[in-house]
Amino acid sequence: MDELLRAWFSHNARSLPWRETRDPYAILVSEVMAQQTQVDRVAPRWEAWLERWPTVDALAAASPADVIREWQGLGYTRRALNLHRAAQQIAAHGWPHDLTELPGVGRYTADAVACFAHGRDVLPVDVNVRRVSERAGHTFTAASAQALMDLGATVCLARIPRCGACPLAERCPSRGRRYEPERKQGAFEGSFRQRRARTLRLVAAQELPAGDLDAEAVASLARDGLVRIVGATVSLPA
Ligand code: ADE
Repeated sequence: MDELLRAWFSHNARSLPWRETRDPYAILVSEVMAQQTQVDRVAPRWEAWLERWPTVDALAAASPADVIREWQGLGYTRRALNLHRAAQQIAAHGWPHDLTELPGVGRYTADAVACFAHGRDVLPVDVNVRRVSERAGHTFTAASAQALMDLGATVCLARIPRCGACPLAERCPSRGRRYEPERKQGAFEGSFRQRRARTLRLVAAQELPAGDLDAEAVASLARDGLVRIVGATVSLPA
């Protein structure tokens, strides 16, 4: 199965800029960005980020306010603050042996850096990798990681897999199956997440009187360290 998959990948790999590097910092940034944002949207933002902060030390020296602003539009901005804190930790103490000690880095992200940057023999298991592996009934090796991600994103889709285009179909016990709709992410429109995003966008443009803003959203953003309240003024963290 691994050989069939990799033969397919050699002709069907998506062109993603972070596949051209083995720099652990650059890979970490790509994986944190891709956690909850589609890779097509991530690619140009990743390039801009690396241009602005090419190294861990450069990011560590940035202000949280600039980090938050650079993240705008990617969503789930707590990820940006965690990435910034992780960079500060690495700049001060070096890379930890166990990357899950870094803020915002869980099993998947740690394994992705180990595999893609250091070439270690660990398979990072995200939703696509898990789905393809379960359907195929096969334990893939780390060398198939990128191929699994692309197959899961373009062929072995969650609900209606394109088995006709799949290099594994002939050997796949799940071939031709259909799946129930997944639980969708709640609507963004009208959500508290949207109120937070709107409030953060306003504050990122300029500091504002608390009375002009959505009080619940401000309180929630302040709890996450994404804004600070000084007197009656709300601003990004310095
Ligand atoms: N999604 C998250 N990480 C990815 C990667 N390295 N390649 C493709 N899709 C991804």
